[in-house]
Amino acid sequence: MPPTTQAPHTTLDHITPDDLARNVADTFVDRVDYHDEIESTNSRATQLATASANTTSDDRSCVLVLADHQSAGRGRGANKWWSTSGALTFSVLLRPEALQLPTNRWTLLSLTAGLAVCHAIESLDKSLNARIKWPNDVFVDGRKICGILVEAATGERGSIILGIGLNVHNSANHAPDELREKVIALCDVAAHPFRRVDLLVAILQTLATDLAQLTTGVDQLREEWRKRCLLTGRTVEIELPTRRLTGICRGIDADGALLIETNAGTERCLSGVVVRFD
Ligand code: BTN
Repeated sequence: MPPTTQAPHTTLDHITPDDLARNVADTFVDRVDYHDEIESTNSRATQLATASANTTSDDRSCVLVLADHQSAGRGRGANKWWSTSGALTFSVLLRPEALQLPTNRWTLLSLTAGLAVCHAIESLDKSLNARIKWPNDVFVDGRKICGILVEAATGERGSIILGIGLNVHNSANHAPDELREKVIALCDVAAHPFRRVDLLVAILQTLATDLAQLTTGVDQLREEWRKRCLLTGRTVEIELPTRRLTGICRGIDADGALLIETNAGTERCLSGVVVRFD
């Protein structure tokens, strides 16, 4: 349960011009597209990708779309993302050819980004344990603290949009009724305040290293997401494209598939939605 009293550090930190400069200087992004408020950073990044594909300028820069607040954040499928003030919400417009990322590794981006979020959280608060809930969530204390939405924007050479929403100051106490028991924010679990920009820079810096590994040698990443898999050993119900499957989760394999053991054997799930776990 999140604490029933308000966490003592809910004062929102503001993102300043210095913060934005730091994003560019300390990380791999080429420029920042900042908005006090925007509908969805993923939608904005998609617009930028489309615009750059349709011009002759050949702009293949890696853009960070950052918003203090989203008014219509999107989740997977038709889901909305709880987008209140105080969350860290951003999308990175990635250029796979610049990263030399082969197409068959794109499906591993969610897990890779999840790892970067886990490392960033733990690097800024050593008492926290962050876990990956396959394929695109990060959990702390058994609740969802972060969601990741990877989308491909089709253009001349293709671009990938990596959207991350991390609950920071937006306490679960103020979440909508249907989410209150399921989500958590850093202000609910940490003994000290976080600055969103510190988290952002830590995520982007780890992501740079992890994306390089995704291109060259994935073994270390595989080991990491295996270790951090929240679902391992639990009974899981997963919605697959044509049916539902229930079984014991046996971890994540080398291709990023969730392994589900049933009476009929072990199934590899490359995509799907985990609808229940014990
Ligand atoms: C999910 O859990 O279903 C994924 C949620 C992803 C939310 C982030 S917030 C920043 C970016 N912009 C969006 O509209 N969505 C992603």
